[in-house]
Amino acid sequence: MFLKSLPAWFELQSHYAEIHHEHMCDWFTAQADASPTRAERYTIGGAGLTLDFSKNRITDATLALLLQLARETGVEARRDAMFAGAIVNPTERRAALHGLLRGSVGNSAGVDLSQEIAKVAHERAKMAAFADAVRSGKRTGYSGKPIRHIVNIGIGGSDLGPKMVAHALHHFADPQLKLHYVSNVDGTDLQRVLEQIDAETTLVIVVSKTFTTQETMTNARSLRAWLASQGCPEDQLHHHFVGVSANPDEVVRFGIPRDAIFEMWDWVGGRYSLWSAVGLSVMIAVGPAHFERLLAGAHQMDQHFIETPLERNLPVIMALLGIWYRNFFGAQSLLVAPYSEALHFLSSYLQQLDMESNGKSTRLDGMPVDGETAPVIWGEPGTNGQHAFFQMVHQGPTLVPVDFIAVLKPEHALPGHHAKLLANCFAQSEALMLGRPIEAARKVAGADRPDLAPHLVFPGNRPSNTLLLEALTPESLGALIALYEHKVLVQAAIWNINPFDQWGVELGKILGKVVETDLLAANAAAVSPHDSSTSHLIELARAALKA
Ligand code: F6P
Repeated sequence: MFLKSLPAWFELQSHYAEIHHEHMCDWFTAQADASPTRAERYTIGGAGLTLDFSKNRITDATLALLLQLARETGVEARRDAMFAGAIVNPTERRAALHGLLRGSVGNSAGVDLSQEIAKVAHERAKMAAFADAVRSGKRTGYSGKPIRHIVNIGIGGSDLGPKMVAHALHHFADPQLKLHYVSNVDGTDLQRVLEQIDAETTLVIVVSKTFTTQETMTNARSLRAWLASQGCPEDQLHHHFVGVSANPDEVVRFGIPRDAIFEMWDWVGGRYSLWSAVGLSVMIAVGPAHFERLLAGAHQMDQHFIETPLERNLPVIMALLGIWYRNFFGAQSLLVAPYSEALHFLSSYLQQLDMESNGKSTRLDGMPVDGETAPVIWGEPGTNGQHAFFQMVHQGPTLVPVDFIAVLKPEHALPGHHAKLLANCFAQSEALMLGRPIEAARKVAGADRPDLAPHLVFPGNRPSNTLLLEALTPESLGALIALYEHKVLVQAAIWNINPFDQWGVELGKILGKVVETDLLAANAAAVSPHDSSTSHLIELARAALKA
């Protein structure tokens, strides 16, 4: 099946030709007295979240065609296969059962998942007992002092998810515990954490699905050496380490005893793993009950995704809008702008989720994808982004669709902040849509500055979604994350790619090992041949490393 030969695709192309010059504002004006309004018709909700997608360059006809595309590409079957435990990741011969971690299981594939369900329950209970022991002070460091610092060592999915959630749910966390996330092999990352922690009260969680990842193992070894250098006897180091992995033998080889290993399984993809023991740091910080609420929120979104007709299905609608801009308007990126400091790390989390999942050019059947796939995901919390890159989003020549995310009730009680924050969020989407035509720009510029007028023009007609959370709770956060996970799945289904593998990260890793050997080679003659650029860079670095 070629995407571009599907009836819906053909029709979308001619529909795009018809409407892409039209201005959204005209649709709002034309329907100003309509009931329901455009905003009401294009606002949907689920799992406690509300999505206003009315400021998009779509009409009812667009939506109908996009939904037809979802049906023609078998989105629902792909969804059901994933929840049922089918091998939806054929290149790695695995299922993708992150849904099961939050109690969402289907049965369409006839796979018996009872063993997996039991393993999840067992591991969750073990996590909760451990988290309680740390929180209550029962689990101590080697000298008997309670744990005060948790250092999560991991990278990619073993870092971004827990770090993002821990930051978001900080107001639910035990204030006595300080969380640190170390991911980069750049020693500066670890060094800066070492400056803040104290060996006797530090617990290290080494998180790695494979337990072979270079960055993680380097940091774990350095931290172990540091703890020993700070006076922790070698035979007491086990008080300070636990491991999370799908490769327990490797964890034991590192020196972590088997009973201090929390297991995950090959059917939990790295970037989908925060719901597993990968979320241990979060559970320790916020407590098992809040962690369960996070899972419950994700479960609600799973249910919404499974049960809600496509027309009102949040992940489906967001995915289809993404396809519309990526494949028809040629938009190359999606700006995710959470107007929430607590969601500071959401965009970087979504970068891995979306780009590592869907940044591919090969279809499931090995054929090239006929069209563009994952957009570049980027963003910063508002209002900071307004003072950095929103200039380009408003007036640059490039179309950048935006996901605005706003939290209606603040987590703090500081007066005078939240209305300003929300006002900025809503005003940005309004400004992006309205724009400012030349006549209005002339008025703003004034009769004495006609030269200024062209600089004050905003093209407008720039699309955005606005996602509303009532408050930032474990439930709403869980639902928000699951929403984006499923959006990625829907787009993968349409592009017919496997969102659960990541072969694109391999080549650099392989060459990195060769280059490292060359950098450390005893003499220049032992350095392997490379292109002239790489050879020159190696030569410069060898000189610097020796100096
Ligand atoms: O290099 C990419 C990747 O494999 C990600 O998919 C993964 O989340 C990350 O590395 C970390 O892997 P691990 O958990 O095995 O250390």
